Amino acid sequence: MHSFFIRSNFADWPRSLYRLAYTSVASKPLSKADLKQILSTSVLRNQADNITGALCFSRDAFVQVLEGARYNLSIAFQRIVADTRHKEVELIGLEPVRVRAFGNWSMAFIDDSTEVREIILNHCGADRLVTDALDLSSVTGLVREMLGKPRD
Ligand SMILES: Cc1cc2nc3c(=O)[nH]c(=O)nc-3n(C[C@H](O)[C@H](O)[C@H](O)COP(=O)(O)O)c2cc1C
Repeated sequence: MHSFFIRSNFADWPRSLYRLAYTSVASKPLSKADLKQILSTSVLRNQADNITGALCFSRDAFVQVLEGARYNLSIAFQRIVADTRHKEVELIGLEPVRVRAFGNWSMAFIDDSTEVREIILNHCGADRLVTDALDLSSVTGLVREMLGKPRD
């Protein structure tokens, strides 16, 4: 009985909820239309894969948080890394979480603004995204703050 319990737990583990975050840099200046296109594809794909999250674009940098089943996140991340519209994709983290922090959005989009730059300054101590200054928990707080949500 006991070993059965352990095995069934492990079988469920890869399908439980995970959160992934990364930063990247636009390969070339992106227009509003470019960003709209990235977002509309993302929303459709994420809806199909039960992935939620948020994407922020500030200056020339992206920071994105994705939540969903680990396998779905792996596949989405492979697609994202292969996308030549951005480069220097740097993984911040991938960790299991108990609840979604962005459950209402297939992909919320946060465009550059003075407020966004101020939040980045507060979190990163610099006027642009510094990946080294972020971990999965702080990046979740950063992006939630950009959406006007409490830190957790
Ligand atoms: C900054 C950025 C964020 C993206 N976010 C997502 C996303 O959240 N989900 C997704 O499926 N694709 C996302 N994409 C788009 C994928 O890279 C890819 O173009 C899209 O999923 C279609 O892939 P396919 O047609 O090669 O299968 C993003 C692309 C960029 C540049």
